[in-house]
Amino acid sequence: MVATFTVSYGVRHVRRHVFDIEETTLAEMVGGREVFVVADERVWQEYGTNIERYARGHLRLSGSARVSGQEHDKTLERVGDLCAAAFDHGLSRDGVFVGVGGGVTLDMAGFAAAIYRRGVRYLRIPTTLVGLIDVSVGIKQGINFHGKKSALGAFYPPMGSINDATFVSTLSRRHLSCGFAEILKVALVCDAALFELLEAAGRELYDSHLSSPVAAAEEVLFRAEAAMMRELEGNLFENDRRRLVDFGHTFSPLIEVASEYTIPHGEAVALDMLVSTALGAERGLCGWGVFGRLVECCRSFDLPMRYPLLLPTLLERALDDAKAHRGGDMNLVVPDGIGSGTFAQDVTGAELRAALRVVDAAAGR
Ligand SMILES: NC(=O)c1ccc[n+]([C@@H]2O[C@H](COP(=O)([O-])OP(=O)(O)OC[C@H]3O[C@@H](n4cnc5c(N)ncnc54)[C@H](O)[C@@H]3O)[C@@H](O)[C@H]2O)c1
Ligand SMILES: [Zn+2]
Repeated sequence: MVATFTVSYGVRHVRRHVFDIEETTLAEMVGGREVFVVADERVWQEYGTNIERYARGHLRLSGSARVSGQEHDKTLERVGDLCAAAFDHGLSRDGVFVGVGGGVTLDMAGFAAAIYRRGVRYLRIPTTLVGLIDVSVGIKQGINFHGKKSALGAFYPPMGSINDATFVSTLSRRHLSCGFAEILKVALVCDAALFELLEAAGRELYDSHLSSPVAAAEEVLFRAEAAMMRELEGNLFENDRRRLVDFGHTFSPLIEVASEYTIPHGEAVALDMLVSTALGAERGLCGWGVFGRLVECCRSFDLPMRYPLLLPTLLERALDDAKAHRGGDMNLVVPDGIGSGTFAQDVTGAELRAALRVVDAAAGR
C-alpha cells in the first residue's frame, strides 16, 4: 500500500477580536460544521460571554468544555474527559474541535481531536504569547505521562490557527515573560534581526504587554512566527532530528518535571538556553559575548537564571532522554553566533558542571 498524505494549513491574522460578532474568520473556517469548543477556564472567565454570543450568531455549537490550563492537568485522563464530553454532546465525525487557550489547552484539545472517533477536524485559537508564536505554527500535541513531559502525543495537523494578539493584554506578566523566552529561542539561533529587536525594544514591549511600540510589537510577532514556519516546513514530522527550534528544549522537560510543574515551560526553556549557551561558549562554538547578551535579555524579561534543582545529575539524565528522543544523537542545540546555531554531541559531566558554574556566576551579578 502506498498513499500520500498532504498537509496544508495556515495561520490567519485578525484585526478585530476573533469573537467580535462582526469578525467572520472563525465562522468561514469551520464552514457550517458542528463545533465543540475546548476553552481554558481562565480565558473563559474573561471571554466566555463573547464566545457564547459569537456561537449563537455564527456557529453550530454542539457543546463546550473547560480545562484548567494547568500543566499538571495535561494528562490522558483529562483528554479522555474531553472526548467523553464531546460524545455526550453528540459531536459527529464531521465536527470540529476548536481549542481556545494557551499551549496546555491547545495540546489537550488537539490530542483529543486526533483520537476522537479516530480523528476529527481541529482548529486553534491561541490566547498566550507562546500560543501565538509557537503552538499556532506546528502540528504537534504532547501529553504528560508516566512522570515524563510530553511523553505521549501526536503529529496531527490542524485546519489552521486564528491568531489574535489582543488576547495577550490579559495575560499575567509571568506568562508573558514565558512567551518572550520562546521568542528568544528562535531569535538567537535563527534570526539575528529579531534578537537585536528584542534587545532594543524587548523591555518596553514586555512592560506594555506588547502594546507599544506598535511597529516593534507587530514585527516581533511576525518575525518569530515566520522564523518558526521556516524551520518547521520541510521537517514537520521531525524525520530530521537535528532541529534548531529544539534550542532550550533539551534540559527543560526534566526541569519542569523536577519542579512538579511549578516552573512554567518558558522559564524552564530560559534556564536551558543559558546552560546550553554557556556550554557552547566553553567549547568555543560561540563567543562569551553571545552568552552575555542572552543573560541581559533574560534579565530584561525577568526570566529566572537559577533554580535549586538545576543540578549536573539532572542535566545528565536529560541528555540521556534527549538521545532516546533524537535517534541516538544528543543534538544539543547551541548558538554559534547571534542568529545561527549548531549541534553539540558527546557533552560530558565536566562540561555540564562548568556551564552551571558560569550560569550561577552570571545570575549572582
Ligand atoms: N505543541 C506545541 O507545538 C507546543 C509548543 C510550545 C509549547 N507547548 C506547550 O504549551 C504549554 C505552555 O503553554 P503556554 O505558555 O501557552 O501557557 P499555558 O497554556 O500554560 O497558559 C498559561 C496560563 O495563562 C492562562 N491564560 C491563557 N491565556 C490567557 C489570556 N489570554 N489571559 C489570561 N490568562 C490566560 C492559563 O489559564 C494559564 O494559567 C507547555 O505545556 C508546552 O509544553 C506546546
Ligand atoms: Zn517550548
